[in-house]
Amino acid sequence: MKLEQPIILAIESSCDDTSAAVLKGTEVLSNVIATQDVHKEFGGVVPELASRAHQKNIIPVVDSALKKAGISKEEINAIAFTSGPGLLGSLLVGVSFAKSFSMALGIPLIEVNHMEAHILAHLIKDGSPIPEFPFLCLTVSGGHTQLVVVNSPSEMEVIGETIDDAAGEAFDKVAKIMGLPYPGGPLIDKYAKLGNPYAFPFPHPKVGKLEFSFSGLKTAVLYFLQREVKKNPDFVSENLNDICASVQKTILDILFKKMDNAVKQTGIRRVAIAGGVSANSELRSRLSEQTKRGWEVFIPAFEYCTDNAAMIGVVGYHKFQQNNFVDLSITANARMKI
Ligand code: KG4
Ligand code: ZN
Repeated sequence: MKLEQPIILAIESSCDDTSAAVLKGTEVLSNVIATQDVHKEFGGVVPELASRAHQKNIIPVVDSALKKAGISKEEINAIAFTSGPGLLGSLLVGVSFAKSFSMALGIPLIEVNHMEAHILAHLIKDGSPIPEFPFLCLTVSGGHTQLVVVNSPSEMEVIGETIDDAAGEAFDKVAKIMGLPYPGGPLIDKYAKLGNPYAFPFPHPKVGKLEFSFSGLKTAVLYFLQREVKKNPDFVSENLNDICASVQKTILDILFKKMDNAVKQTGIRRVAIAGGVSANSELRSRLSEQTKRGWEVFIPAFEYCTDNAAMIGVVGYHKFQQNNFVDLSITANARMKI
């Protein structure tokens, strides 16, 4: 099948956001996201609750995406869905929905790797500059931290990743230690704006040039706060902004050091960020400043940073053009790799 501007329905359900999008070519007609508030009080995503919420949300979310796009089911040329990586129970809801939809309408089925989709969100036609190939991408989400050389929409190589926690996990775990609700990343970003990033220095990990490690930071913050709270029980509330600014600076310093190493090693100066943490305001402004050093930088629109189905749809578009379809025997792959 060859169509210049196929209409693709895309589904994302890998973690705690149920999302559906409709794309015409690489242009997004609608991108509906139902975020699950049920996890807030638990300080992290509860897999069992996430699957149930996806089950409840998926039909209304798809319905709303079709209505917003002004597209009827009969006009859809293919359905794309996240097959991994992610929480198995969450993924299965999206996979089962997509398979049934494809069978009912007799349209092709396209499987999408969630991490590739975060990166290829940069190819969405939304008026912002689209990177040429090859480019380097730092993908920073709640589950992953990777440096990827992107040679084409279908050819990517991971050149470095975390050996323990992901960057988003570091934000969330430190926030939890301070008593902030999940997800803590956006709150640390908010409080950090009012704090002094040099107030409390935290150590950097000793790992390979392109490797990341964040579990030590979490432990360092935990011990530091336990020590300070013994002296002053109100230490966290009295210093919240400074702690947030200092933790954020440490995480970003680590990310920039590794991006620097990757640019030096590959000679690629076209640098993009992707994934939930790329919504961080300080990361965005610090990356913008790198243009002064001759980097060409690409920062996704906010709505395409955290989990969304539009990014699944753009991968769907590229696979559609290559007739890269799957059959109904496809299932979820929780540990899918790039
Ligand atoms: O990509 P994403 O929505 O889901 C995964 O695939 O993991 O990323 C979610 C992560 C969470 O850890 C969240 O705290 C973090 O992205 N995040 C942020 C910000 N917005 C979301 N971290 C720092 N600053 C932000 N503004
Ligand atoms: Zn994600």
